[in-house]
Amino acid sequence: MSEIRAAITAIEAFLPEYRLTNQELGKMVDTSDEWIMQRVGIKERRILKGGLATSDMMAEAAKKLLEKTHTSPDEIDFVLAATNTPDMWFPATACIVCDKLGIRNAWGYDLLAACSGFIYALETVSKFVESGRYRKVLLLAGDKMSAITDYTDRTTCPLFGDAATALLIEPVTEDVGVIDHLFRVDGVGRRYLHLQGGGSLYPASHDTISKRMHYTHQDGKMVFKYAVSNMADVAVEMMKRHQISPDDLAWLVPHQANLRIIDAVSRRMGLTTEKVMINIEKYGNTTAATIPLCLYEWIPRLKKGDKLILAAFGGGFTWGAMYLKWAY
Ligand SMILES: CC(C)(COP(=O)(O)OP(=O)(O)OC[C@H]1O[C@@H](n2cnc3c(N)ncnc32)[C@H](O)[C@@H]1OP(=O)(O)O)[C@@H](O)C(=O)NCCC(=O)NCCS
Repeated sequence: MSEIRAAITAIEAFLPEYRLTNQELGKMVDTSDEWIMQRVGIKERRILKGGLATSDMMAEAAKKLLEKTHTSPDEIDFVLAATNTPDMWFPATACIVCDKLGIRNAWGYDLLAACSGFIYALETVSKFVESGRYRKVLLLAGDKMSAITDYTDRTTCPLFGDAATALLIEPVTEDVGVIDHLFRVDGVGRRYLHLQGGGSLYPASHDTISKRMHYTHQDGKMVFKYAVSNMADVAVEMMKRHQISPDDLAWLVPHQANLRIIDAVSRRMGLTTEKVMINIEKYGNTTAATIPLCLYEWIPRLKKGDKLILAAFGGGFTWGAMYLKWAY
């Protein structure tokens, strides 16, 4: 195989120390461990404290990544940061991370695609790498969801957590790496899942603050319905397109929003839970970080050539499935 493909060659993660448990949430809003475990499947989530931001988590993950792979900051030639919670409107969080790490020979930007941010970003950087012009790409994916979560709203505050990941993406000419993607975006979801305040439509004002418009709002039931059908449709289509049977597939790596969504998607794909990466119980929905955080934790169990399908669904709506073969 002489065609160039892009492969994930290393992953690191940063998880804040503070664990916000269901018991503690039960003191903040009218909820319980039993309700959250039954309806969502989350036990605890990490929360970033101390006035730190998304770029701090990304920079910590990326620092570990560069050390582990003996990569100098000068060797990085492109940086893409997938996040919904940039440090600020601008400069891009990618720029801030470059400054914190001393990356000087790269260019880059941020990509916002809600919970599909990671797969959209992985496909984007893959195209750069496949062009043959980029040798070492730093892909950052993470969110400080606690910054946009309303801790007086019991319907959203149990769901989200903070985390960041950093991945090295490099060219390969073997039969591994990113093979295919099937992505969609429709805009239907803007009614059901959004953060409306602070943009050009509703710039920050006393009114936007008093209406709590700087927090994430959703119609959970509608989001749930669309998430199950859309994520399952593209994942099943990807299996058909590449004639991958449930036995052939090593792992489904689903976005971690709700255990019931993950179960429904796995069932439609004909998979048993042993083939599904699930860590939602420990971290909740960390938005752009969920899929790479799963990959990071499963590295000891992954083998070169393993067939993986990544599937995500998020605000927009945005959704999609990717097919890749693990590279190391
Ligand atoms: C949010 C979500 C967990 C709610 O679960 P649900 O089974 O749909 O629950 P409903 O919204 O129908 O609410 C059922 C009842 O539980 C209550 N409830 C909601 N949150 C609760 C909580 N944290 N604790 C206790 N009760 C709660 C509701 O008020 C409602 O009470 P009512 O019947 O008296 O009105 C679920 O819809 C979901 O996960 N949706 C997808 C969200 C998502 O993934 N978003 C991110 C985008 S990827």
